[in-house]
Amino acid sequence: MKRVFSGVQPTGNIHLGNYLGALKQFVDLQNDYESLFCIVDLHAITVPQDPKKLKENILDVAALYLAVGVDPKKSIVFVQSDVSAHSELGWILTCSSHMGELSRMTQFKAKTANTSNKDSIGTGLFSYPLLMAADILLYDTDVVPVGVDQKQHIELTRDLAIRVNNTVKKTFVVPEGRYIKEGARVMGLDDPTKKMSKSAENQHSRISLLDDDNKIKKSIMKATTDSEGIIRFDIEEKPGISNLLNIYSALTGEPVEDIVKSYDGKGYGDFKKDLVEVTQNSLKPIKERFNEIRHSQELIDILKDGAERADAIARKTMKRVKENFGLGL
Ligand code: AMP
Ligand code: TRP
Repeated sequence: MKRVFSGVQPTGNIHLGNYLGALKQFVDLQNDYESLFCIVDLHAITVPQDPKKLKENILDVAALYLAVGVDPKKSIVFVQSDVSAHSELGWILTCSSHMGELSRMTQFKAKTANTSNKDSIGTGLFSYPLLMAADILLYDTDVVPVGVDQKQHIELTRDLAIRVNNTVKKTFVVPEGRYIKEGARVMGLDDPTKKMSKSAENQHSRISLLDDDNKIKKSIMKATTDSEGIIRFDIEEKPGISNLLNIYSALTGEPVEDIVKSYDGKGYGDFKKDLVEVTQNSLKPIKERFNEIRHSQELIDILKDGAERADAIARKTMKRVKENFGLGL
């Protein structure tokens, strides 16, 4: 069976973009692949974190994985820092990487663009993609489901795997990215030219999976549209309404064209009201399951078991890596 690996950062506010772009895919993939889904807490500390809040966020993401339908009987669900080999392999890959290739990462450039004192930019932010490469290569991963925003990191992972295989010894499986369709990229509700993000200041820019019905309603009713008043799909000219159509379609499985047809002659208000209902109904069972499991011993047991199973695979890889590099006894 081929292997899938993916990770989500425990940085709070898991939103519709994360759900439709990543988590929902995981649920489908776990039936066809041996799957590992990780809560990447070591990535989270590339920017300062409040330790108490971080721990809460880790458990939140873990509970959300399960609440959306990741099944611990089919998939390994675990916390990155519980398997020490991630850090170990991260270092070894650091030594196989180049300043130039890391400097070219657009996520690094975007995250540091507004830092006026360049000397204070965190080294962890710079080497972030190497830890991500370690996550993936550690499990001989075949397929990595992620949003298109991660494509450059996946390409770097492939480059590193090929480099080590060619210059040291054949060590790594070269993984492939599996990207969500461009249309499945969920944009900010307040500004549909920017992707929906966990960190945007305006909380009405996103719908978090745990938002209550009132907040869902407010955010959608406030969402930016345009003055034409006609419901049609046109990303360039009408990014706002097109984003809402995409969300509607992704949540219901109805093709966008059919939705557009059924709103012929109707206004944005009618459509938004229905989208509120669709969203509330889609998130209801997720929130219910989340509340059941979030503070349970079951959740802790699942993560412990996941870490043990992941560690067993990681150890084997590290043995091979160390041997091939001539490290250790
Ligand atoms: P992050 O929020 O950066 O930790 O991302 C977790 C996962 O969700 C990654 O696979 C991202 O590519 C995906 N993702 C994040 N934001 C969006 C978005 N607005 N639309 C679609 N996918 C997203
Ligand atoms: N960098 C990814 C993101 O921000 C999260 C991540 C870390 C990841 N390690 C990974 C995704 C390994 C896939 C595979 O979305």
